[in-house]
Amino acid sequence: MCGIVAYVGDEKAGPILFDTLKRLEYRGYDSAGVAVRCDDQIEVLKAAGRISDLEKSYLERGSPGDRMGIGHTRWATHGRPSDENAHPHTSGGIAVVHNGIIENYLALRERLTDLGFAFQSETDSEVLAHLINYYYQGDLARAVAKAASEVEGSYAIAVMSADSPSIVCARKDSPLVIGLGEGSCYVASDIPALLPYTRDVVRLKDGDFAVLEGGKVHVQDISGAPRELESERIEWDVNAAERGGYPHFMLKEIHEQPRAIQETITGRISEVEGDVRLDLGMTSWDMQTLQRVSIVACGTSYHAGLVARYFFPRAAGLPVDVEVASEFQYMQLRPGTLLVGISQSGETADTLVSLKKARTCGVRSLAVTNMVGSTITDIVDTSIYTRCGPEIGVAATKTFTSQLAALLLLGIRLGRGRNHLLADQGRKMLAEFSRLPGLVQSVLEKRDQIREIAKTFAHQGSYFFIGRDFLYPIALEGALKMKEIAYIPAEGYAGGELKHGPLALIKDGTPVVALATCGRKIQSNIKEVRARGAEVIALATEGDPDMAKIASMVVELPATRPVFSTVLCTVALQLLAYYTADELGCEIDKPRNLAKSVTVE
Ligand code: G6P
Repeated sequence: MCGIVAYVGDEKAGPILFDTLKRLEYRGYDSAGVAVRCDDQIEVLKAAGRISDLEKSYLERGSPGDRMGIGHTRWATHGRPSDENAHPHTSGGIAVVHNGIIENYLALRERLTDLGFAFQSETDSEVLAHLINYYYQGDLARAVAKAASEVEGSYAIAVMSADSPSIVCARKDSPLVIGLGEGSCYVASDIPALLPYTRDVVRLKDGDFAVLEGGKVHVQDISGAPRELESERIEWDVNAAERGGYPHFMLKEIHEQPRAIQETITGRISEVEGDVRLDLGMTSWDMQTLQRVSIVACGTSYHAGLVARYFFPRAAGLPVDVEVASEFQYMQLRPGTLLVGISQSGETADTLVSLKKARTCGVRSLAVTNMVGSTITDIVDTSIYTRCGPEIGVAATKTFTSQLAALLLLGIRLGRGRNHLLADQGRKMLAEFSRLPGLVQSVLEKRDQIREIAKTFAHQGSYFFIGRDFLYPIALEGALKMKEIAYIPAEGYAGGELKHGPLALIKDGTPVVALATCGRKIQSNIKEVRARGAEVIALATEGDPDMAKIASMVVELPATRPVFSTVLCTVALQLLAYYTADELGCEIDKPRNLAKSVTVE
């Protein structure tokens, strides 16, 4: 996830670009850049690091007369944070900023290299600059449209040319908003960035192109037909704006999950081949001779690893052990193992120490992380990025479901690479995988029901979460979320284990959340706790005929394969913890005693 901005108007462009970029910093902040046009020249300033540092360089340099420009704040997905990989990317007199992922960038890069274009960065985005330059013959909008027609993937772009007084923007599957001012037009990835300048905005639709010139905006749709400007007036409170109107980052990040999961899977699924495109740096022989997978992680990431423990044996015929990273030092690492470290931050000390063992023991290692260029990526042989953008709330939400998505992709790739999973099985699984972002959206729409449940039990003083099979790790994660942000003692248990001790704690009114979208055996565990007075909140599949009869209340989730229902149950449990914490007046984004990244052992 990155942020892009643009400005055309009567005022000096640079200060406006920097100010709007800073308001988009929550979308990524590993590098930044601007391009402004002065006297038919484009001046580019870009660097790894924070926007405020770049702004200092801009002020020192001074760019008299700039009245238009584009800007970018980056969250690396292709290529680590560096000056070269920062946007804008240029080609001839063209400068481009891009948010999204170009899926066919390798093919485009080869073609453009053959045509004589020299690439300066490792990014997918740079192909856009060269492609637009290739097609540019004085009509910037036309060149952008031609280039866009050849691009697969997602994009929001702003483009300028040294010899053109207009800025051209376009979007597909990535957000882009235009702000309308007096004699000025503004562009940003998100509305909040524009609110200090204007409250009149136009949200571009997928396939739209916009040409901004002299304070005027012309929009055309995907067919090239002019589209009437549908502007809306934004009445939000500016303080809530950087959270996109949400009261907390955590709630915002919960709601970003359909998009985050989409980003994780974009360009990695081939439904035709029934396979996953992930470069694991392993040959078929490496995969076929692999003996086992060991997973190390902490906290929420550890729970993602536990889901893989259920999935990899079935998808890839590989035994898996999972260990909390702080205990891994006491374990043996066997030859023939793939050691996988999961860490959203890529900086958790215990996980890093564990992964270093791979080198000393001569086994292959792999990281699943959200942070390109983080320390973990230097320690392992291969990294899989979850690409879900920065997470500000301390309690992990979208980074967790993106880890699940990345691990499921990894399991399928290993399964296909080892010929354990047939192409047809892969196809069916991936077809269902593609539906997952939409299914998550349906769970989010249950928020009002979940809020009421949260209010009902917020003052009960304890919670139990039970699940079986794939959903046991999700019961642990549900309990962890409740502890972390609502400070309620909560236990996650395997459904069948409850009778071996914790049942003694169940009394009249104890809330027990039963994850019931995976198999029928959980029903007997529900009956066991009901018989002892518990109130059971069941997460069940839509149309389940039994659940309404045995549970106290049922949240219905869309039908899907059990392995994908891990994600759906997670989202429901995140909402339950969030609304409980809100009801209790807890400080949700920064829970007491906790930190987003723990860099000590
Ligand atoms: C901290 C965070 C947790 C996170 C854990 C592991 O404790 O508060 O939310 O799950 O670290 O973090 P990692 O970055 O390695 O996934």
